Amino acid sequence: MCGIIGYIGNKSATPLILDGLRKQSYRGYDSSGIIVFEKEKPELVRAVGKLEVLEEKVQKSDFKGTVGLGHSRWATHGEVTEANAHPHADCNNNIFVVHNGIIENFMSLKRQLEEKGHVFHSETDTEVLPHLIEHFFKGDLPKAVRQALLLVKGSYGMAVVARDDPGKIVAARVSSPLVISVNDSGGFVASDPSAIVSHSNKMVFLDDGEVAVLESGTFTVTDLHNIKKEKEITELEWSAEEAQKGGHETFMLKEILEQPESIRNVIRGRLLPKEGAVKLGGLEEVEEKLRGMKRIHIIACGTAFFSAMTGKYMIEEYAGLSCEVDIASEFRYRKPIVSPDTAFLFISQSGETADTLAALREVKRKGGLTLGIVNTVGSSVAREITAGIYNHAGPEIGVASTKAFTSQLVALAMLTVFLARQRSMSLVLGKRIVEEIARLPDLVKQVLGQKEVIAQLAQKYASFSNMLYIGRKYNYPIALEGALKLKEISYVHAEGYGAGEMKHGSIALIDENFPTLAICPSDSVYEKMISNIQEIKARGGSIIAIASVGDKEIANLADDVIYIPKTIEMLTPILSVLPLQLFAYEIGVKRGYDVDKPRNLAKSVTVE
Ligand code: F6R
Repeated sequence: MCGIIGYIGNKSATPLILDGLRKQSYRGYDSSGIIVFEKEKPELVRAVGKLEVLEEKVQKSDFKGTVGLGHSRWATHGEVTEANAHPHADCNNNIFVVHNGIIENFMSLKRQLEEKGHVFHSETDTEVLPHLIEHFFKGDLPKAVRQALLLVKGSYGMAVVARDDPGKIVAARVSSPLVISVNDSGGFVASDPSAIVSHSNKMVFLDDGEVAVLESGTFTVTDLHNIKKEKEITELEWSAEEAQKGGHETFMLKEILEQPESIRNVIRGRLLPKEGAVKLGGLEEVEEKLRGMKRIHIIACGTAFFSAMTGKYMIEEYAGLSCEVDIASEFRYRKPIVSPDTAFLFISQSGETADTLAALREVKRKGGLTLGIVNTVGSSVAREITAGIYNHAGPEIGVASTKAFTSQLVALAMLTVFLARQRSMSLVLGKRIVEEIARLPDLVKQVLGQKEVIAQLAQKYASFSNMLYIGRKYNYPIALEGALKLKEISYVHAEGYGAGEMKHGSIALIDENFPTLAICPSDSVYEKMISNIQEIKARGGSIIAIASVGDKEIANLADDVIYIPKTIEMLTPILSVLPLQLFAYEIGVKRGYDVDKPRNLAKSVTVE
């Protein structure tokens, strides 16, 4: 992933493509590339780092061609190098592909193509696409693309050009957005309308399984079997800035609402439902070592630390391993015991957090086995750990972490199944958990569907200056995360507490001006939570409860209730945190703050 742009028409393609890349640069990228047909000869330029590096290289060449593609890459498979940057080509420098998404069966496709003599030059999953299309290509690019895609598993938003079938861009999508637009001067394809809305506001959004063929001034859309599709033209009334946010008011909201998709991405290709197991390719090289481990020690900062805390409950309950968690800034200055039977797991969205990195280096110095759950491929943490799991949540622009957090929790749930199935977890239980993980994208969507109800609730509570968040067991870290979200987005004082700890001090704060958010799904600690809620009610405090669908008792006790669907206890945090994200967001907006850039905070904390 990240940004795709293509142009075909009667204007010089290069400046239009560079402009399209610049407009998508807000999504984050680490390298970029462009292919332009200059007098039918393909001219490919790729660069690592800022777009300026690519621009400088391209300007030296002064291409005038009128067909081309561009891509800004945010690494998912393979390091950040020029060879891994898109576009990728076939063996004959005929077919060029830019791609967002993940080709799940790329390893087996690559093996088959190599047996047929194809030579690969990158570590990416994308490179199988031009080679597979080359395999079918007999002068008709759309046909070869359709034939190739019938063999591909995974997600893609992609655009393809061929020297030997000039005058066409072929674009296709499954689970990765792609939009086309045609005007008098030519046709555009992009992964984000913001890249092309300045040329025309008339867009055609491709749906999953569709293939579009753009020629100068016209386009057709079919399915993978070449059955023609009628497409609606949507007129966007977005400003360029709104377009970058996918029509949402803020990146934070966009990222909250993207969670069904980001969770689909973290689980894609990793669940083995029949075996009640998970396949974590990034851990394969340490699989045997993990079998012998007695302890897991998780280290992280901020929101990532709260996912670590949640992971502790998962790993201890199901994998039967003792699990310790540490805030990286504390861990690095104490004298941790690094023993050979302990695996050290570092969780970081950015992969650049200074304290997490220092803790990781300390463990490495002492010879410990280091693992990671990281969102940013090629980041320092990702490079320095021995083995790990990528989140594939996509770039997170809003400073407050939302979609990265839930994808960390899902990665931890999968890691738990992985470790547990190496040990004593039964096939039946493994199947049950894997089944529930697979349902998460739909369950998450159901919770996010209550956005308006939560907005009304936020209106009711927006004027309070203090709030308490309580939860137990799996939802204790979620109370901490909910309070953190409210603090950072709306600057309201919020305390997160383990509900059982409340009566050891903080209950003294409770009165009618100090509402409590109580996370109490129908789980093993439900009754205990009800007692805590009663204690708060008895002191005049009001209660907003996050409860499971069908819980009638809670409605009599709480002032307001937000319901979440039922799932197994271990996965409830992935649902219960969503209303808390939306609640904090709505209160921040109602108080008039810039929720994407809260004061005093940086997205990546690269200093101590
Ligand atoms: C809060 C937030 C931070 C980060 C923390 C760690 O919303 O985003 O607390 O979670 O700074 O950052 P990463 O995960 O990049 O190591």
